Amino acid sequence: MSVPEVLLQSVGKKFLGSTKPVLEGIDLAIERGEFVSIIGPSGCGKSTLLKLVAGLIPCSKGEIAIDGAKPDAARKLMSFVFQDATLLQWRTVEKNVALALELEGKPREENAARTAQLLELVGLSHVAKHYPRQLSGGMKMRTSIARALATLPRLLLMDEPFAALDEMTRDRMNEELLRLREEQNWTVLFVTHSVAEAVFLASKVIVLAPHPGCIAHMVDVDLPYPRTQETRDSDAYDELVNRTSRLLREAHRV
Ligand SMILES: Nc1ncnc2c1ncn2[C@@H]1O[C@H](COP(=O)(O)OP(=O)(O)OP(=O)(O)O)[C@@H](O)[C@H]1O
Ligand SMILES: [Mg+2]
Repeated sequence: MSVPEVLLQSVGKKFLGSTKPVLEGIDLAIERGEFVSIIGPSGCGKSTLLKLVAGLIPCSKGEIAIDGAKPDAARKLMSFVFQDATLLQWRTVEKNVALALELEGKPREENAARTAQLLELVGLSHVAKHYPRQLSGGMKMRTSIARALATLPRLLLMDEPFAALDEMTRDRMNEELLRLREEQNWTVLFVTHSVAEAVFLASKVIVLAPHPGCIAHMVDVDLPYPRTQETRDSDAYDELVNRTSRLLREAHRV
């Protein structure tokens, strides 16, 4: 399966019953294997944009194409990690991860092998039999990432997945995410409120302005991968974070 490209053309969204659109005139081309971060003030339409790409809600205007197909038709290619990691409390870590596979009706032995592999990948094999309440925030998030990866996605849509984590854990998770991506070769669309995180992860940062949500700026992040603590300590990274923060402050004033 190839890594998909995502094209948004003049995309707009107005919810039924509201007078103003939430998003308007979004033009965006995401290349195969690209990591794009989206930042913008609360309520500017970041989650709405991800839901449109996922085909969970329809566009009011314009078109979205994932490898030339409509989001509905490209469902099998993608996985969504939501703003709050919603694990099923009554299922163990491995059972949470296996859920999507069970729903696909795959044979039990195949599911068990695949689940074990995924838990290994996110470093959770030792807590496979634990329940969500026994996990730290970071472990919960890694469980939901493993769950998202169970169906072998090529396009990952992530909505503030690390927002609830302390800075050190978040930094580590960022590096793990990039490492996994290197191995698995995904296209990623990643929403965050942290400029530092957006820049660290992405090759391109989209800054949205509100009322209605539109693309105010695109920042190319020309820092080499793999990215490490050394990246964070570099002047080039600092400069990009400062520049992007400035653009975000401007977007807030719109
Ligand atoms: N189903 C819906 N019906 C009506 N309005 C909605 C719906 N979903 C979102 N909105 C509105 O659309 C706007 C954008 O919401 P969205 O959740 O996309 O923002 P966001 O940028 O993700 O914010 P945050 O940073 O707080 O997560 C908000 O004003 C919200 O109230
Ligand atoms: Mg949101």
